[in-house]
This record gives sequence, C-alpha cells and structure tokens, in this order.
Amino acid sequence: MGTLAELQTTAAACTRCALATGRTQVVFGVGDGSASLMFVGEGPGREEDLAGEPFVGRSGKLLDKLLHQEIGLERSQCYIANVVKCRPPGNRDPLPDEIASCRPFLDAQLELVSPGVVITLGNFATRLLLDTTEGIRRLRGRAYPFRGGHLVPTYHPAAGLRGGAEVVAEMRADFVRAKRLLVGDPP
Ligand code: URA
Repeated sequence: MGTLAELQTTAAACTRCALATGRTQVVFGVGDGSASLMFVGEGPGREEDLAGEPFVGRSGKLLDKLLHQEIGLERSQCYIANVVKCRPPGNRDPLPDEIASCRPFLDAQLELVSPGVVITLGNFATRLLLDTTEGIRRLRGRAYPFRGGHLVPTYHPAAGLRGGAEVVAEMRADFVRAKRLLVGDPP
C-alpha cells in the first residue's frame, strides 16, 4: 500500500476517471497521518482545487470552528480527506464511477491513518462508508461501529451554512458525540 506520501504522489498523476481532465490539483488529504480523528467530506470545491487542500473555503471555516469549539482540536491535529480527490465540474455531485475509481485512495487513507473516530460529512461520505442508501438526516444522531472504531455521521458543513442555526446545532451535538468517543466516554 505504501505510505500516505507515496499514495499522494500516485494520486497526483491519477487519470482513473474523467475528473482528472478538469482539475487544477488533486486534493489528496491533509493533517496528522496518525490522528485519532479523521473527517471524510465529499469532494473539492473551487477553492480547494486551487489550494490543493480540503475544506479551505467557507465550509472549511465552519468545520474548523466546530472542531475547535466542540472537540478542542485544530485541523492540524486531525486528518481530513474527501470521497473524491478531484473537483467535480461546477461543484456537481460526484458520479458513481468517479466515487468507485477514487475509493482505493480513501480506503488506503483509512487504513494508514487508522483513526479511532471517523466523522463523515454529508450524504456521500456517510452512504459510502456505511454502505447504505439511507439519507444523512436519518443516519445522524448516533455512532456506528467502523473498522474497529467508530463512525459519527453529520451534515456537510455546506448544509450547516445553508440550513442555519438548527443544522449547526445538530452538527455541534454530533461533534460532542465524537469527542466523547475520542476520550473513551461513550455517548
Ligand atoms: N466540500 C467537501 O466536501 N470537501 C472539500 O474539501 C470542500 C468542500
């Protein structure tokens, strides 16, 4: 499988799906490669495509804020990745074949980082990792066993930005759930 750095080098030259043609950069992942907490988002937006880093736009600012306020961590203390590593044009949803092409990278990241807690952000990451077609609204609100640890689904921060105080309050509750699992105090 190699190291995260080796995988990142492989991903940077990836042409497994059509997203390769439209990208500025592959947005592989960022943070502490041995973190206890890992986030999985959907895919890079415009700002991430330009910066080469996940969640640097408005959604990322909300993610950073909730991470700091509810879990007491900075982004450098966790690992952040996406379901697809290249920006879907016009921020459209990633297609099933694009998700499948990119899956080995995400699986390898999960294996190498081996976090105790994974927070999935939104429908795409949650459905993929829990292998379900159920929606995030029904899936969130509890933790699931995952790869010997826990998976805590929550809304995508973009939904928090759109949905206002109620959605953000639910996200905060999910982050608190994740924190309890991180410190070994089950929610
Ligand atoms: N939305 C995502 O799902 N991932 C990012 O990296 C940025 C926005």
